Amino acid sequence: MTNHSVVARFAQARSDTSLVVLEGFHPLKHAIRFGAELLDVVTPNIEKVKKLAGELAPDVIDGLEDRLTEVSESVFEELAPVAPVTGVIAIAQRPSHSLNDILNDPTSAPLIYLEEPSNLGNVGAVIRVAAAAGAEGVLTSGVHDPWHAAAVRGAAGLHFAVPVLRVGTLPSCDRPLVALDPDGEPLQQSQIPERAILAFGTERGGLTPELLSKADARVSLPMRKGVSSLNLATAVAAVLYVWRLAD
Ligand SMILES: C[S@@+](CC[C@H](N)C(=O)[O-])C[C@H]1O[C@@H](n2cnc3c(N)ncnc32)[C@H](O)[C@@H]1O
Repeated sequence: MTNHSVVARFAQARSDTSLVVLEGFHPLKHAIRFGAELLDVVTPNIEKVKKLAGELAPDVIDGLEDRLTEVSESVFEELAPVAPVTGVIAIAQRPSHSLNDILNDPTSAPLIYLEEPSNLGNVGAVIRVAAAAGAEGVLTSGVHDPWHAAAVRGAAGLHFAVPVLRVGTLPSCDRPLVALDPDGEPLQQSQIPERAILAFGTERGGLTPELLSKADARVSLPMRKGVSSLNLATAVAAVLYVWRLAD
């Protein structure tokens, strides 16, 4: 690839909804570990990336070393708004998932639904904890693409470990719908039914009246008097670990 074509390729990948840009070693590491199809992996220093992989994730070296293309520092700096300090950036194919398959999966794990999240860092942190805790998947609504490079950075690339889909609105299905709301009844472990959809609201306004009216339960994480709410991703993490540790 010429310098010009590398820059054009990364710019084009950012607006192609079949592709994802992985900014930095950690997203790339998880992408390789969870079976991503890598298309381009670019660095200004191949030896430095191999050394980093040897230190942090030797298991991914085989999937990485033949894929690396070296470019100049100045070209590398044009490939992301802020050049990754780990000195590597990549383009991968997004995996395709069927919403019906996710909704109809008979296993007991809960599915996370984020209603119109506004902060891509929060979206990434939610995907990271959903992958770690073993959730069924993460669905989002609203204008933000959960596969945006900023969300992928926040999730350390764990989009490849758990299905992540943007949906228009929450589809109706046979899963119990549990609304997480600071004004709900205090959460008991027994209130997370098998195959639940756990719904979380937008950072500023919380869940919409439409979603609350459809919910089978409306529960809260108890907080000290005077505290209005938890951060969105913190709330998701707390609820998922209530579920996981109950097993
Ligand atoms: C930053 S909060 C939104 C705050 C909003 N003012 C409200 O009253 O819902 C974002 C989302 O995190 C979840 N959340 C935050 N704190 C919570 C708590 N203590 N109990 C249950 N859910 C909580 C809810 O789903 C909420 O919609």
